[in-house]
Amino acid sequence: MLFGTQRVNARGHLEVGGVDAVDLAERFGTPIYVVDEDSFRARCREYVSELRREAPGASVAFATKAFLCRAAAQLAAEEGLRIDVASLGELQAALEAKVEPETITFHGNYKKDEELLAALDAGVGLVAIDSTDEMRALSRLASATGRRQRVVIRVAPGIDGHTLDAISTGRNDTKFGITAENGAALRAVEECLGLPGLELVGLHAHIGSQILVLGPFALLAEKMVGLAKTASVRTGWTAGLLVLGGGLGICYGDDDAPPAVSELVRTVVATVRRASQACGLKPPRIELEPGRSLVGEAGLTLYRVGPVKEVPSGENETRTYVVVDGGLSDDPRPLLYGARYPVLLANRAAEGPTHVVRVAGRHCETDTLFDVRLPLPRPGDIVAVLSTGAYNHTMASNYNYFCRPPVVFVRRGDARLVVRRETVEDLLRRDVG
Ligand SMILES: Cc1ncc(COP(=O)(O)O)c(C=O)c1O
Repeated sequence: MLFGTQRVNARGHLEVGGVDAVDLAERFGTPIYVVDEDSFRARCREYVSELRREAPGASVAFATKAFLCRAAAQLAAEEGLRIDVASLGELQAALEAKVEPETITFHGNYKKDEELLAALDAGVGLVAIDSTDEMRALSRLASATGRRQRVVIRVAPGIDGHTLDAISTGRNDTKFGITAENGAALRAVEECLGLPGLELVGLHAHIGSQILVLGPFALLAEKMVGLAKTASVRTGWTAGLLVLGGGLGICYGDDDAPPAVSELVRTVVATVRRASQACGLKPPRIELEPGRSLVGEAGLTLYRVGPVKEVPSGENETRTYVVVDGGLSDDPRPLLYGARYPVLLANRAAEGPTHVVRVAGRHCETDTLFDVRLPLPRPGDIVAVLSTGAYNHTMASNYNYFCRPPVVFVRRGDARLVVRRETVEDLLRRDVG
């Protein structure tokens, strides 16, 4: 299974963006995150063009929590996407990437006053309000500084995204948003309309991530139109914008068959249109805010194999452990929720798999990455883990004080370092004791 511009070249090596993955490992060291820039751009374009065709005026926002560095924010902005941020760090990165503040939405389920103030000061286009407490705080801060902030209210729509618990965010029992089902979201709309310093422009919901079926998205669109209609009857206010979140899944293995972006867009747009007509509501403008499906398949991680060990794993059974120079600190997802990926040997990509081996990390946890079928790895081989473009670089940590890997963008034969490798000096700079 290969993605985007990935192919096996004449040397029998994995190639991506026209660059030999083994050369990348030699030049930049391992572990290393590699992003196929053309694939990332192609996904951005697909979302924008599908949405513009189906619903002129609709917009796409890049959820930077999936993958962020200045180059990524810049790329998404160049492709016509708005930018979602959920912290001061994400906001600053977007601003330094010269993203227009007006195109930024500030998210987060606990925004501190200093963060709300920073968002106001930056002049972000939208704040997604996550609670009534936050709504009142933003109103207070905005009016105290003489501003009027455009906002959407994030709703918990009571929808199961049929995905992993850790990334299912739209149920009633969730920390995110304001509950629709018990009337709290409607009351928040009413209150928001009366608060100084805020201009309520629409409603928002995000039901989860790595969703592989369209049903939950259609249900979400239907429910949000219903809520907008009830709000309009109750208050006379009309939602001009429905932000329907991200969540489209990607391919992490042979069993995953994610719907195409075009199918998602058609489903959402048709449902909003039909549901609006059915209840006599002017169809609101639609925004989608994908992360994983923009960049996940465009990214891969390269590791170098260290020790290879055969150990007893049961009666008359053995298991081969292949230890790589990364693991938990550059990719917590396998330990967090059993994530799996396509894996191959970048330097022996033309060889067929002959052994089931357990690829393990080098942290002081049992940070097994995965059991996979590979040609029997040898020390020095390069393991390529595919589909790691989303929630790997951004979820990396310094466990065991390992330094976080660099990010390299590849495109048409060129490799461009966009995030350098962390150093031990970087790690110790904060240590002032
Ligand atoms: C509010 C919000 N929008 C969008 C996203 C992006 O989701 P995904 O990466 O699954 O597209 C997330 C991620 O969890 C989110 O919390």
